[in-house]
Amino acid sequence: MNSKITIAIDGFSSTGKSTVAKQLAKSLGYVYVDTGAMYRAVAFYAMSHGFIDGNHFDKSGLIENLGRINISFKFNEALGFAEVYLNGVNIEKQIRTLEVSGFVSTVAAVSEVRHKLVEQQQQMGKDKGLVMDGRDIGTVVFPDAELKLFMTASAETRAQRRYKELIDRGDEVVYDEVLKNVQERDYIDTHREDSPLVKADDAIEIDNSNMTLEEQFKVILDLVNKALNK
Ligand code: DC
Repeated sequence: MNSKITIAIDGFSSTGKSTVAKQLAKSLGYVYVDTGAMYRAVAFYAMSHGFIDGNHFDKSGLIENLGRINISFKFNEALGFAEVYLNGVNIEKQIRTLEVSGFVSTVAAVSEVRHKLVEQQQQMGKDKGLVMDGRDIGTVVFPDAELKLFMTASAETRAQRRYKELIDRGDEVVYDEVLKNVQERDYIDTHREDSPLVKADDAIEIDNSNMTLEEQFKVILDLVNKALNK
């Protein structure tokens, strides 16, 4: 029986990866790492330091400055999950805007950025007992993870979820723009050269278009128990 395992959760944006990852981490007493937040933090840095100007992206400028970017997580007891910090400043709220979402896939396609973040992610998970979500966790970051999940849902279902999230937090957004952003990110994430989003051969696919959160959690918890009892 495995005492502590690594759980890798990959999939398209807004498939509820982080919701289930947080539920799992809480019920197992594991650490949860949101790797999307790390790519968002780099995108936020690029936007706030002038490496993105309208449609122009100063890629080499960002690469030269990667050494100045320090990303960390700090557990927030009240929220029940770890928030992301950029050079010591909490940027959890700033990285969730549609503006950052519109740019993050471009930054995530830069190999130097991926290299830096993957190294940090592997370091964070070296003792197991971890649930990590992203796009390349089961394929690149932890190819030996004991349990790999690949989450999918239709683009419309995902856009509805993201739209509701943004409206609930008070952002003024239009549904069609959110849908467009979801589709654009799907395209960039699956077509980039470095570590494109693909399902690992040994990942278990979960399509949650028609599942409630409770149903999904039950299905996944069963898979976790099987992996733990191997
Ligand atoms: O999970 P998210 O929507 O917060 O991720 C933001 C972006 O970061 C997404 O468009 C793809 C990218 N990403 C990635 O390339 N690799 C990861 N491990 C996590 C996210």
